[in-house]
Amino acid sequence: MRVGILTGGGDCPGLNAVIRGIVKSASDDIEILGIKHGWQGLVTAEYRTLTDDDVEGIHIIGGTILGTSRTNPFSNDKLRQKVEDNIKALELDALIGIGGDDTLTVAAKLSSLGYRVIGVPKTIDNDVSNTDYTFGYHTAVNVGADAIDRLHSTARSHRRIVVVELMGRDAGWITLEAGLAAGAHLILIPEFPMTISEIVDYVHKRMKKHGYMVIALAEGFKPTELENVVGDKNEIDAFGHIRLGGIAHYLAEVIKDKTQYDTRSVVLGHLLRGGTPTAFDRILGTRFGVHAMELVIRKDFGRMVALKGGDIVSVPIEYGIATKKLVPYEYYRLAQIFFG
Ligand code: F6P
Repeated sequence: MRVGILTGGGDCPGLNAVIRGIVKSASDDIEILGIKHGWQGLVTAEYRTLTDDDVEGIHIIGGTILGTSRTNPFSNDKLRQKVEDNIKALELDALIGIGGDDTLTVAAKLSSLGYRVIGVPKTIDNDVSNTDYTFGYHTAVNVGADAIDRLHSTARSHRRIVVVELMGRDAGWITLEAGLAAGAHLILIPEFPMTISEIVDYVHKRMKKHGYMVIALAEGFKPTELENVVGDKNEIDAFGHIRLGGIAHYLAEVIKDKTQYDTRSVVLGHLLRGGTPTAFDRILGTRFGVHAMELVIRKDFGRMVALKGGDIVSVPIEYGIATKKLVPYEYYRLAQIFFG
């Protein structure tokens, strides 16, 4: 049996743990083809065979040894046809797609066309439905919390406001939990918009009482007054997403203008995604990889592996992409207790 595996979308810590888990748990009659650069590698038929030796010790390394891309084979018929032709040319009996919403959407479409596909949910944003966590998220929260910890001392020393921007396109999980862990004085996430005047009220109250402030905000946060999220509208990926970034700078300028407090902005961006995974993400990635291979061996296709209450289970791939898993109001309300 020949199984192709690929990693698509933004990289994240733990991808290599999944790859290692898949390869190490394959039975002797299974040959693993590592498809390079996500779906792009199935368009161009770029791959490498993966053996036990190739995955030795890779679970502690960040990124993905296979490379990744945001190629969307369903963005036009030619690309889709190439992918279908190459699945046949490479004689793939099954395909494991490791990725977030976009990669899983492609996997689900291929599955509905009759291909034998397994999905493994990945994203630092943690917004895939029907899994408690995606790997990479835990590492991103830790990096974010560490950065916010550090920003406290410099903000306090200078009696400044620091606005720190974290990744999170539609879901504010990273910002909420990193902000909560590190004691940010205001947390702004896409799920719960706020007006500029509400934000300025928080700033005045906090500055009068404590003389410094750290505001954590997600890149996808949009103050109610703004029509669009802040980003580069000319940079749109194959899945139709604009490149986000810059809301921290925008908000810092507005706050400075309206309050006259000394204000700075910091964008953590890709720092959150880089480097070695936490032990949690290494283990979650490993368990996901092993379970994905179990599903292949059982010929239980069209499934996405998932974490549910500590157990590794599987659900139909469509369940992962049906809706985005957003921060519920009850959780945000808990965080609000610590604002100000
Ligand atoms: O993978 C999700 C994500 O980390 C988003 O939070 C962010 O908007 C995006 O990736 C950035 O992608 P890129 O690496 O293509 O700039």
